[in-house]
Amino acid sequence: MYRGRRLRKNKEIRALVRENHVRMDDLIYPIFVQEGEGICAPIESMPGQFQYSIDQLPPLLDEMKKYGVRACLLFGIPAHKDACGSQAYAPEGIIQKAVRAIKAYDPELYVITDVCMCEYTDHGHCGILDEEGVVLNDTTLTYLAKIALSHVEAGADMVAPSDMMDGRVEAIRQVLDENGFADVPILSYAAKYASQFYGPFRDAAHSAPSFSDRKSYQMDPANGKEALREIEADIQEGADAIIIKPAMCYLDILQAAKERFDVPFCVYNVSGEYSMLMQAILNGWLKEEVIEETLVSFKRAGASMIITYFALMEGKRQYAQKQSRPL
Ligand code: PBG
Repeated sequence: MYRGRRLRKNKEIRALVRENHVRMDDLIYPIFVQEGEGICAPIESMPGQFQYSIDQLPPLLDEMKKYGVRACLLFGIPAHKDACGSQAYAPEGIIQKAVRAIKAYDPELYVITDVCMCEYTDHGHCGILDEEGVVLNDTTLTYLAKIALSHVEAGADMVAPSDMMDGRVEAIRQVLDENGFADVPILSYAAKYASQFYGPFRDAAHSAPSFSDRKSYQMDPANGKEALREIEADIQEGADAIIIKPAMCYLDILQAAKERFDVPFCVYNVSGEYSMLMQAILNGWLKEEVIEETLVSFKRAGASMIITYFALMEGKRQYAQKQSRPL
């Protein structure tokens, strides 16, 4: 008889046969940076997460270092929005200033920037609109390339375009190469679904569209094969690594993509996924171990990298575990 229980008998043997591990090296922590001073504002719909002004970042960066968070993904909340999102590529824009400040404080922290326009446009869409309110793909590409270049000039280690315009990876690769940044990788949100799970993020980043929705550029949650076409196109355009977003409901996409393409994959464990688990933990309905279970499921499905609001908590958990069980 097959006796699977032999290898589950005690924690020692379970540790020996464990197939997947969540390492702090895999995790990327999203940070919301806001224009202003003295701001460390709790985000109501994302318990435990904050919007920070640049001067308030050092204590956070110290904690991240202590607990082993080595990479972050930056989102900016500008003071001023307009039709073409000019603060997204301004040399003194919030992200450009934040990247410089973070790199000056901790040059070893790997800084990834989200390249998109929705936080910066007064209409909240991820690109430039025509008179009818349609997002203009090819016009938007010029802006995205400008935004990416300005982030990299400020010192970003990697750029992550999240707008879902066609051709943006090629446009960004070209502008980076032409400006002496051939060594800066692109982490493309290749398969990004039009998801309700972004709700809390849009509160946090003030980026909800003021009319209509994002369904003409983000993908239909009903589609799987389409994600493979998106990923293939982005790899051909020069993407170095690929994001699948959201994570929890989309692990089939990750697994299929992983089988087909030989690039590093990243999942984005998005705001709504964070908030529903976190609120259930705070209410006592779920135990905190649910975080580890969630994160390891991403590894099992094939993720190399995980963007998650749980990164710092997970760092604290692993730190405490090491203290209680020194090597
Ligand atoms: C910007 C962007 C969004 C997220 C990441 N980049 C919002 C959106 O597309 O509406 C969502 C992240 C999250 O929910 O945690 N386009």
